[in-house]
Amino acid sequence: MIYRYTVLSALLASASATPLALKRANLTTAQSWKDVPLSSDLTYVPCFDNFTCANLEVPLDYDNPDVGTTNIAFIKYEALNQPAKGDAIFNPGGPGGSPMNFFWDPSSYGLLRGLLGDDWNIVGMDPRGVNNSGPNLDCFDGHPAIRDFYEIQAFSDIDPRSSVSISKYFETSGAYGTWCSQTLNNTANYANTPATARDMLQYAEKLAESQGEPSEEAVVNYYGASYGTALGTTFAQMFPERVGKFIIDAVQDVEDYYFGSWSKNLLQADEAVNAFFSYCAEAGPNCALYRNGTTADDIKQRLDTVLKNMEDSPVTVADPNFVQFPVVLTHMDLRGLILTALYNPPVYWTSLATVISLLEERNGTLLVQFAEKGKMPVAECDNPPDTYSTIDPKLLIACNDNNKRFTVTEESLAALFMGQRDLSEYVGDVWPIVIVPQCRNLRFASPPNQVFNKFEVKETKSPILFIDNTIDPVTSSYDQMSAFFPGSGILLQDAVGHGVIVTTSNCTSSYVQKYLETLELPPPDTVCETDFDPFAAPAAGAEKRSVVPRTVPFSHRM
Ligand SMILES: *[C@@H]1O[C@H](CO)[C@@H](O)[C@H](O)[C@H]1NC(C)=O
Ligand SMILES: *[C@@H]1O[C@H](CO)[C@@H](O)[C@H](O)[C@H]1NC(C)=O
Ligand SMILES: *[C@@H]1O[C@H](CO)[C@@H](O)[C@H](O)[C@H]1NC(C)=O
Ligand SMILES: *[C@@H]1O[C@H](CO)[C@@H](O)[C@H](O)[C@H]1NC(C)=O
Ligand SMILES: *[C@@H]1O[C@H](CO)[C@@H](O)[C@H](O)[C@H]1NC(C)=O
Ligand SMILES: *[C@@H]1O[C@H](CO)[C@@H](O)[C@H](O)[C@H]1NC(C)=O
Ligand SMILES: *[C@@H]1O[C@H](CO)[C@@H](O)[C@H](O)[C@H]1NC(C)=O
Repeated sequence: MIYRYTVLSALLASASATPLALKRANLTTAQSWKDVPLSSDLTYVPCFDNFTCANLEVPLDYDNPDVGTTNIAFIKYEALNQPAKGDAIFNPGGPGGSPMNFFWDPSSYGLLRGLLGDDWNIVGMDPRGVNNSGPNLDCFDGHPAIRDFYEIQAFSDIDPRSSVSISKYFETSGAYGTWCSQTLNNTANYANTPATARDMLQYAEKLAESQGEPSEEAVVNYYGASYGTALGTTFAQMFPERVGKFIIDAVQDVEDYYFGSWSKNLLQADEAVNAFFSYCAEAGPNCALYRNGTTADDIKQRLDTVLKNMEDSPVTVADPNFVQFPVVLTHMDLRGLILTALYNPPVYWTSLATVISLLEERNGTLLVQFAEKGKMPVAECDNPPDTYSTIDPKLLIACNDNNKRFTVTEESLAALFMGQRDLSEYVGDVWPIVIVPQCRNLRFASPPNQVFNKFEVKETKSPILFIDNTIDPVTSSYDQMSAFFPGSGILLQDAVGHGVIVTTSNCTSSYVQKYLETLELPPPDTVCETDFDPFAAPAAGAEKRSVVPRTVPFSHRM
């Protein structure tokens, strides 16, 4: 699930903003999707130096070829051990998330490799409407700078504790739907999770054909995290006989996802914040909030005090060394960072502690940097790179998926925020922002064969392996989802974060790789030890103002 655009954000510690591929082009391999030929057969060509890519032409509606076709982008990282045991399709989360970023950063795909082993090709697939796959879901197509400028100012600075702000948010999101309904073409109807699940089957069948094998029995092998669990379980409900090796990580309540209220995510969020307090108290000087003799409860009280102070009086940053214009930071900015930090503790917790300790002095220079405020957005006339925003695809896909089952009024929106705050004292205020799709003014409707109706108990050809951390701040519904699939197994690992690759664990990876090899599941109630150490990394320092305007806003990063 993408928070703003952070995501399974988790990840990618060091995901670099500039693809390395662009810096040292290898002209014998495709360096752009435009150079990957479109084909209704699976045709891989070398791409981006280290990978192979395929651009598969698929029907927009498999039951109605007359409505035309679109393209689905695949990028393959070959297994070290060839011949590979097969291809495993990978989805990193979303909706709207693209796996491509993973492939540019060797440390990111190193984590994937560490989990899945060296015997399987890992195939990143851009789902329908996402990044390099059609149909287009960019409501500001061809104008990335306007889009980024709009999305930042429209969906930030919302405070659910103010009825004026709720009212404005309600109207802003309605206006957004009205706008997108005019700028997008009708093909946007066909970007939804059931259609993407069908595309995965198409991939398996075309792969079998390309290998001279019968396509009717081809199975899909899959690793999906976060929203990838919605995609994976949807596939398993639609095509239970075609389930191969299936690993479902960071397990969303997918019924709640299809319902559209996104209200069952934060079940363990405050538990994750409490873990921040206790790990900090144990970390010693690596945690900036630690003092000699500090307890977890002392640290909690200090954060509570900072939040209360910021609710009463926001913090200003007006030092030209750190911002390009003065900025006012509220408790919402801090809550937003806390939520982001819960996704990937080893990457964020040392910095979060430093941010909070500076805020105790009402110094917001580090928070302003994480909130990506106080920097001029890149202008259209500066030829911004043709970046991809996950916002539009996320809303459009989620809205198509919930199929108008959930619509809000201004009153119910306020109630929704209140309900989330009851679930999580720390991040309930920020969760519904931009996450809850505001679908009421969107005119799109997927055809009935692309609407997912309900979960049923289904026997799958192979057992599914559900995995998660013992504390996952936003998706912890493995028991509930596993119950729909008799014979499936659950593996937990002892860590805090969203997705098991926030840390490494020989135990987790050996169970996962044994499952990939033999389909053997871990014994019931297995909880793996891990190398989880959230205060190992040095904290980020406040950076002096950069003269370069920001290119990719915080809110658009994975
Ligand atoms: C390709 O692999 C080399 C060697 O591992 C690495 O240095 C380079 O960054 C990779 N390029 C891309 C685009 O991933
Ligand atoms: C360019 O890509 C080709 C095909 O993948 C590879 O054989 C060659 O070594 C690469 N050249 C460089 C300079 O990276
Ligand atoms: C989208 O795809 C391009 C390659 O066409 C890649 O450079 C970029 O990192 C991808 N964006 C994301 C957010 O993954
Ligand atoms: C909608 O998009 C499709 C695919 O990009 C294109 O072929 C078609 O012409 C567009 N239709 C309209 C009405 O713009
Ligand atoms: C920390 O506190 C203990 C007990 O209160 C004390 O004995 C010790 O000297 C203190 N250490 C430092 C570095 O202040
Ligand atoms: C705020 O903190 C930063 C980073 O520690 C420091 O450089 C800056 O001088 C502080 N600002 C004030 C007003 O104390
Ligand atoms: C994990 O496995 C690696 C390689 O086999 C080994 O070097 C390392 O000590 C193991 N770590 C733990 C915590 O068992």
